[in-house]
Amino acid sequence: MTSSIRFLMCSPHYYEVDYVINPWMEGNIHRSSLERAQEQWQGLYETIASRAEVDLVKPQPGWPDMVFTANAGLILGNQVVLSRFLHPERQGEEPFFKEWFEAQGHTVYTLPADLPFEGAGDALLDREGRWLWAGYGFRTELDSHALVAQWLGIEVLSLHLMDERFYHLDTCFCPLTDGYLLYYPPAFDAYSNRLIELRVPAEKRIAIDEPDAVTFACNAVNINHTVIMNQASDGLKGHLRAVGFEVVETPLTEFLKAGGAAKCLTLRVTEPLHPEPTGESGIVSRTITMKGHLLDSGLVNRALDLVVEGGGSFQVLKFDLGEQRQSTSSAEIRVSAPGQELMDEIMAQLINLGAVALPDQEQDARLVTITQAGVAPDDFYSSTIYPTEVRVAGEWIRVQNQRMDGVVVVSPAASAAVADCKLLRDLQLGDRVVVGYDGIRSVRSATDRSRAPQEEFSFMGSGVSSERRVELIVEQVAWELRRLRDQGGKVTVVAGPVVIHTGGGAHLARLIREGYVQALLGGNAIAVHDIEQALLGTSLGVDMKQGTSVRGGHRHHLRAINTIRRCGSIAQAVDQGVLTKGVFYECVRHTVPFALAGSIRDDGPLPDTQMDLLRAQADYSRLIQGSDMILMLSTMLHAIGAGNMTPAGVKMVCVDINPAVVTKLADRGSLESMGVVTDVGLFLSLLVNQLNLLTQRPTVVS
Ligand code: ARG
Repeated sequence: MTSSIRFLMCSPHYYEVDYVINPWMEGNIHRSSLERAQEQWQGLYETIASRAEVDLVKPQPGWPDMVFTANAGLILGNQVVLSRFLHPERQGEEPFFKEWFEAQGHTVYTLPADLPFEGAGDALLDREGRWLWAGYGFRTELDSHALVAQWLGIEVLSLHLMDERFYHLDTCFCPLTDGYLLYYPPAFDAYSNRLIELRVPAEKRIAIDEPDAVTFACNAVNINHTVIMNQASDGLKGHLRAVGFEVVETPLTEFLKAGGAAKCLTLRVTEPLHPEPTGESGIVSRTITMKGHLLDSGLVNRALDLVVEGGGSFQVLKFDLGEQRQSTSSAEIRVSAPGQELMDEIMAQLINLGAVALPDQEQDARLVTITQAGVAPDDFYSSTIYPTEVRVAGEWIRVQNQRMDGVVVVSPAASAAVADCKLLRDLQLGDRVVVGYDGIRSVRSATDRSRAPQEEFSFMGSGVSSERRVELIVEQVAWELRRLRDQGGKVTVVAGPVVIHTGGGAHLARLIREGYVQALLGGNAIAVHDIEQALLGTSLGVDMKQGTSVRGGHRHHLRAINTIRRCGSIAQAVDQGVLTKGVFYECVRHTVPFALAGSIRDDGPLPDTQMDLLRAQADYSRLIQGSDMILMLSTMLHAIGAGNMTPAGVKMVCVDINPAVVTKLADRGSLESMGVVTDVGLFLSLLVNQLNLLTQRPTVVS
């Protein structure tokens, strides 16, 4: 017996599965046998008592989970951080544990109310006492880690739990003697896994598989070179023995029904004191504010969700809820993350949602002068489609040429500064680039109460996009096209060859003829098949009237290309009377500019197709400028390309038979985008019909 090691346990006198606060308890209410539980607990007690000392705390009626003493608090030396349970079902245990700790002469720290921390269930000392591993994500709030670090004077390494089944750190993570670590990596996010790998060398990491994880092999009590657990596979036992551990299995199945096993049933009360106290936790915090229709638009939910998904945690410090539908709300939120890197990632996304720093914490944007043309510093800020402002010398200035995936360049110095979105490849020596996330804000209209796109598109989530829904969107689009044409607006169409294959060519040609389209973007293929159809009546060799393949049709598109090459260009083919109808014919006739961007698979290509990709991108970007609306018709590649160049505020309608394409475009989080999952030929025919109706509608006489 090692008399210097002591544990606290609590007899299962009142043990029972009485409620559900973790997934293991589900379906197990009143399903555990008290008799067997007592027997199993006794087994564990004796196993431990033969190797260490065991103290007992008196069980209390009405608090069935009190057996799990790991959750009483966290002890280091004679200091204890008392648990603050997340669930009311366990909060009543707190005073009993507190009493016990005080009776032992410990100094007891209590966390502020509403800052959950579940003791040694979520905080495990490195067995050499070098640092404390602390879990968060389910029961314990990240912000508690900072206080624990400060009070106990120990470095805290925060680990983000991701799998609900492993809701406490001690269910999937067990530091062992000699620096070994028994753990289940999939229970953690990537960042936490990286942290673990940084601190624990590969030969000391014992990663277990799911079968061992779900029988709570990690929920083990480690006493010197003995590991006591519910059960382990032969493989795991072999591994542990090979590195010098004795494995003792003692069945605890009755406690598994409540989501606990060996380690949960014990609290080690003698923890080695850290030789040189530090109080670091690596946790960084920032306070942001948000304003607008935060609830209507779902903006706060999204902000808070992404903080948590990004591995951070939040505290809403203030929330002023607008009282009327038309009034806006404002929120002040403290965001914490376990390190600067994660904080930066979270901030980048919060900025896109319109989050700003508190007025007295505003800073200028950080600028770094680049030293290699076409290359930015690693922490450059990457731009989005949203109108953005940067703070230079105390002034907020609007970023010009807003687009996605660019960098913001500020020139020249001081007062008359100008900020511009540039592509990485266009960066020139001496350009000053915005880095980090200080002094950047995206400008969201305060009146915007549109829902997040996920919801807007949820009609597709259900797997059925009702015909009526398509009709409704067609009506809206037609209305918009009419309005823009009448007001001299700009509509840009991005189209794929499927438009022609599905018989939509004639409709698109008509839209162009009637002045609804001001620019056309696409690849080589849409032009080739449009021209093939105009010259030979087929699209990719399929007769457009009969719908059947034509003999020799496979070379029709090549003949079309050849003809245009002979003429010199599409425009010349029109001038020479060779090309007399179709989409591109109408473009030439009505001087609607078009850009064709080449790709690796292009046949020909047509003389008009720009095979220099950088030039093609520039052509696209030029034609997109000033657009009020972009109609994306069945082309994933060109639609996404165009989408990236388009700032927020431009209406986008994306039509594709493949829901994934539509969702991808909606991903830009643009509030103005609409997705239609349907056959593009059908869509265009409905659209043209609807426009006919609009034009023919008699004026209402009152
Ligand atoms: N039913 C208890 C709860 O959900 C089980 C606690 C297990 N304890 C532990 N340290 N993992 O809180």
